[in-house]
Amino acid sequence: MSLYGKDFICTQEWMLEELMAVLDLAAEMKRDRFSDRWTSILKHKTFLMFFYNPSVRTRLSFEAAATELGGHAQFMTPSAGRFKTQKQAGETIEDAAQVMARYVAGIGIRILEDKVPYYGAGDEMLREYAHWADVPIINMADDRFHPCQGLADVMGWAEWYGGGPGQPDYDALRGKNFLLTWASGALARSWCSVQAALLIASRLGMNVTVARPEGYDLDPEVYEWTQQNCAASGFEFRVTSDRTKGYHGAHIVYSRNWVSPQAYRDGVLQKQTEIEKAMAYPGWTTTAERMALTDNAIFTHPMPVDRGSEVTDEVASGPRSAVYDIAENRLHVQKALMALTMENW
Ligand code: CP
Repeated sequence: MSLYGKDFICTQEWMLEELMAVLDLAAEMKRDRFSDRWTSILKHKTFLMFFYNPSVRTRLSFEAAATELGGHAQFMTPSAGRFKTQKQAGETIEDAAQVMARYVAGIGIRILEDKVPYYGAGDEMLREYAHWADVPIINMADDRFHPCQGLADVMGWAEWYGGGPGQPDYDALRGKNFLLTWASGALARSWCSVQAALLIASRLGMNVTVARPEGYDLDPEVYEWTQQNCAASGFEFRVTSDRTKGYHGAHIVYSRNWVSPQAYRDGVLQKQTEIEKAMAYPGWTTTAERMALTDNAIFTHPMPVDRGSEVTDEVASGPRSAVYDIAENRLHVQKALMALTMENW
């Protein structure tokens, strides 16, 4: 099986054995981080990071990954060019993608919901880049999916239920109860990270519960895939509006604010309206009292964490919080992904 040249846009589009090849190499790379085995894989090669939106973890971890593979990561934002948009004339994706591909071994793109006129338009743009570029396109978070986050998440869960850092046990996740709960907050967050988590949790054989207020459902297609993934391995997918029920017996708790499906009006994300709407649902916070209802669950979050709204400090900084391990895993999974897709390694 070769992953050389393959785009990575959504985990659901990759076979499980392909995802496991990345995860297994990531663990090996984590255990032996600065080994000579990795340090020349991208020697003299460049990875382009094209960010329409800001980032801490994604930018830093991709840049460090390129360095540790012996290559270089180049940073660019749309303001560096004259790109065509719905409102202004400029360079097309067809031209930009084909030129970029002449310079680099791979292209990472981040384009989130506030930069596009409707839900899914960011994912469509990213796929247009993938259509025209003949080097791998890595999704660094679009408005639908954040697949690198999903891989880092599941690696972290498997380490916590396995042998610790660098020793993930993916079989140990089978049959575990995964709770994704909507959370209070004033950040009007994207769907990409939580949808990536649903897809990977269900793919790895967990019972999945989504808890959210009525009116905060996620993408119906992602719900359908999650349902299919769970059913394929004999596990359950449930959606509830109960704030507390999903905590009972949970092994992994993921709390995160997200916008409603009505977030766009007249081609613009209504961020302030979404923030005000979310304020009608206080008390959707992961607390120590709620965590006490679980089966000694770990707490997971892609970061940045909205402490005090999505989760209390006590839980986010508590002994069962996996957040920093997962943030670290972004580096290892992306390093493995780059080695396997950008070099015939
Ligand atoms: N989780 C994540 O993607 O973080 P950044 O937005 O800081 O990159």
